[in-house]
Amino acid sequence: MLGRLNHVAIAVKDAVKAAKIYGAAFGAEISGAVPLPDHGVITVFVTLPNTKIEFIEPLGEASPIAKFLERNADGGIHHVCYDVPDIIAARDRLVKEGARVLGDGIPKIGAHGKPVLFLHPKDFSGALVEIEQA
Ligand code: CO
Repeated sequence: MLGRLNHVAIAVKDAVKAAKIYGAAFGAEISGAVPLPDHGVITVFVTLPNTKIEFIEPLGEASPIAKFLERNADGGIHHVCYDVPDIIAARDRLVKEGARVLGDGIPKIGAHGKPVLFLHPKDFSGALVEIEQA
């Protein structure tokens, strides 16, 4: 059920600026900025051969990453995202195993136009986990 590492997300105050540093320092390929109002973030992706780095910056007053950035003013690793073949089957199995799904448990469309869900960090060794329909 657990597929590839889709991305590692780093929360920052300025996603374009953060991604540009990767572009300059590593010569990495960088996407444009994509606002995701449903998630309260703006995303910029850095593409690596085997995965992606997702820079996220707050969008709007009630951004879910605002508190994280208050605690981590220089930015920091915010979540890891894994592919799953069937997000509803994955959710149902995770809930049955006692994991907590954040929000109402209904997948939202993520940065790649595919359904995503977030899982409580306390159930996953202190790391916020995102799952994305592959
Ligand atoms: Co993500």
